[in-house]
Amino acid sequence: MDADLIKLVNKLQDTFANLGGELDMPQLAVVGSQSAGKSSVLETIVGRDFLPRGSGIVTRRPLVLQLIHTPVPENSTTDITEWGQFLHIDKRYTDFNEIRREIEQETFRVAGQNKGISKLPIHLRIYSPNVLDLTLVDLPGLTKIPVGDQPSDIERQIRSLVLDYISKPNCVILAVSAANVDLANSEALKLARSVDPQGRRTIGVLTKLDLMDAGTNALDILTGRVYPLKLGFIGVVNRSQADINVDKPLSDALDSEAEFFRTHPAYRNIAHKNGTKYLAKTLNQVLMGHIRDKLPDMKARLNTLMGQAQQELNSFGDAAIYGDKNQQGALVLRLMTQFARDFVASIDGTAVDIS
Ligand code: GDP
Ligand code: NA
Ligand code: MG
Repeated sequence: MDADLIKLVNKLQDTFANLGGELDMPQLAVVGSQSAGKSSVLETIVGRDFLPRGSGIVTRRPLVLQLIHTPVPENSTTDITEWGQFLHIDKRYTDFNEIRREIEQETFRVAGQNKGISKLPIHLRIYSPNVLDLTLVDLPGLTKIPVGDQPSDIERQIRSLVLDYISKPNCVILAVSAANVDLANSEALKLARSVDPQGRRTIGVLTKLDLMDAGTNALDILTGRVYPLKLGFIGVVNRSQADINVDKPLSDALDSEAEFFRTHPAYRNIAHKNGTKYLAKTLNQVLMGHIRDKLPDMKARLNTLMGQAQQELNSFGDAAIYGDKNQQGALVLRLMTQFARDFVASIDGTAVDIS
């Protein structure tokens, strides 16, 4: 994730906390048909390999993934800076493969061995210096026909589960559709539209561009001529099943993806507006917009604080100017006021540049 954004959000969160408040960041949830590539997309956003993925129904319980920004202490002697912790088990996981296995086992334990799904979420926290405090939700895929142990009303059950998350106005929806399936049949877009009719908080993600029939392409969709979304459509190429089978590293996958867009005759000219990196950038912009919406409230609280500091400063009277035992206190207050003023000014404008 973007280092500037991480810095900004941390500063805002600290400031809010000092003012006795909280900067509530949006949740991000993926919605789409089974095997559209939802888990794959989430994983590339986090930048680590740890989600169960595969053909068929793999994600069978919601995974509420809380990313927690954890700076490395200055005098740290350990190489371990990232780890995971589940709500249901008291243990630190530093091996991300082990995290994946625990998600699989926890899924089996509650949702059974045979394709059943459960509304009961798995809660996982990832502590890392490279993330923002953000909650991502991986969800079971939308499906129509029951298989295995699934009840006859599986379609309705999954829809209701997904709606529990994406109905919240604070939820950014990643509507994932596979490019090798007709977009008119996209369950992701239908469901996203039902809760976000204006398409304000929905990002369209088109996966599997590498699997389209020869001679066809998704240029019309990617340039917004087929389906209107304010935040647009972003094409991605995730790791294929064959890539997963040979443990292709995430960084190699990102390189191949960039190469795919750069060299594809239909996408060459829009390569800079597609791919996982651009998706992450777009997400950053959406988060910045959200933060900007929170600024008026924050400014009001800072103004109150400044007023109080000013009053206190005045009560020091001449002593504050000519210097005596109160001088230090007055100086601190003055600096604090200045800090608050500078801070408001810095987040007022371009928001990112705060250093
Ligand atoms: P989910 O069910 O929506 O969470 O989808 P997954 O992320 O589990 O992916 C389902 C399958 O599709 C896996 O075998 C992935 O390797 C594969 N897959 C996902 N995205 C792409 C893609 O962009 N290209 C290719 N070739 N395969 C993909
Ligand atoms: Na799947
Ligand atoms: Mg999945």
